[in-house]
Amino acid sequence: MKAMVLQQAGGVENLIKTDIPVPGVSAQEVLVKVNSISINPVDVFVRANENALRYVLQLEADEQPVILGWDISGVVVQAGSAVRKFRTGDEVFGMVNFMGHGRAYAGYVAAPESHLALKPQNIPHQEAAAATLAALTAYQSLITYANVKPGEKVIIHAAAGGVGHYAVQIAKHLGAHVIGLASGENKHFVLGLGADEFIDYKTQVFEELVKDADVIVDSVNDPAHIERSLNALRPGGRLISLLTFFSDEFNLKLKEKNVSGHRLVVSSDGDQMAEIAAWLEKGVLISHVSGAFSFDELPEAHLRIETRKTRGKIVVNL
Ligand SMILES: NC(=O)c1ccc[n+]([C@@H]2O[C@H](COP(=O)([O-])OP(=O)(O)OC[C@H]3O[C@@H](n4cnc5c(N)ncnc54)[C@H](OP(=O)(O)O)[C@@H]3O)[C@@H](O)[C@H]2O)c1
Repeated sequence: MKAMVLQQAGGVENLIKTDIPVPGVSAQEVLVKVNSISINPVDVFVRANENALRYVLQLEADEQPVILGWDISGVVVQAGSAVRKFRTGDEVFGMVNFMGHGRAYAGYVAAPESHLALKPQNIPHQEAAAATLAALTAYQSLITYANVKPGEKVIIHAAAGGVGHYAVQIAKHLGAHVIGLASGENKHFVLGLGADEFIDYKTQVFEELVKDADVIVDSVNDPAHIERSLNALRPGGRLISLLTFFSDEFNLKLKEKNVSGHRLVVSSDGDQMAEIAAWLEKGVLISHVSGAFSFDELPEAHLRIETRKTRGKIVVNL
C-alpha cells in the first residue's frame, strides 16, 4: 500500500511516499481502506520535533516505519475476530490512537473499533475526516470538561480554525451565548457559524470587552494570553487550555478566582465520534474544508497548516 513515511523529524522533505505492506489487525481492530485524512497543527509539530514525535506517537526505541496522522474516513475491509460494531463494507471515521501511533498517512489503517463511528451517508469522506481530532477537541473541551449549559457565555479563541469552527457550532448547539475571536477577515465566517458576537483579536482587547464569561477555550500558546483569558472569566468560570500549561503561580490565581482550569489532551473516543456523526448527519455540525490536497501533495498540506492562517480544515484525499 502507499504510505507517507517520516524518515526523521524535520522539514516536509522528510515525508517520503513509499510502498509498505498492508497492516494486520488485532482482534479488536478493523482494517480501514482510507478515502480521506485530515491534517492538524500537531502533525506539523511532531514532524518537526524529535522529542515531541517520540512522546506523542509513543514510539518504541527503533520503531519503523514512522507514519504520522490520526484522522481518517474510509471503508472497513476486514474486521478482527472480536469486533462487534462494524462489518466489512461499513463507512467509518475517527481519530485513531491519539496519543499514540495513528499511522493515518496510508492507504490502509488498522484502527481499534472503539475509536471509530459510522460515517453519515449524507456527507463526503473529506468532511468526515475533517471532523475527528479537531471536532473531538471541541467536544471534550465544551462538554466533557466545561459542561456548558444553555445561556452560558462562552468565548472561543481562534474561532475560524479547525478546532474553533467546530467549537463555535457545538457551543451554539448547547444553547450558549457564543463569542468568537478571529482576525477581521474571518468575521463573517465566524458569525456564519452561529457566533452571537465577534471580536477581532488583532484590533480589540477581549478582556476589556468581556469580564463575565462562564467558559473560555484558549488555543493560543502564550502564558500572557491565558492570563488575559482568566481576566475575562467570571469567578467560578471554567478555563480550558489547548496549548499553554499552567504554572504553579497560575494555578494559585485560578484558585483565588475559584476558576476550574484544565489543560486538555484530546483522546480517541468512538462514542463521542458517534455523537459527532449524528450532528454531522443533521447539519448541526458542518465541516468547512478550505483546502483539499492529493496524497502526493501531503507535504504541501503541512505547509498550509504551518501558515497558522487556515480557515476550517485542511484535508488530503487518497
Ligand atoms: N491539547 C489538545 O489536545 C489540542 C487539540 C487540538 C488542537 N490543539 C491546538 O490548538 C490550536 C488550534 O488548533 P486548530 O486545529 O484549530 O488550528 P488551526 O486550524 O491551524 O488554527 C488556525 C487559526 O488559528 C488562528 N490563529 C493563529 N494564530 C493566532 C493567534 N496568535 N491568536 C489567535 N488566533 C490565532 C487563525 O485565525 P485568524 O486567521 O483569524 O487570525 C486561524 O484561523 C493548535 O495550536 C493546536 O495544536 C490542541
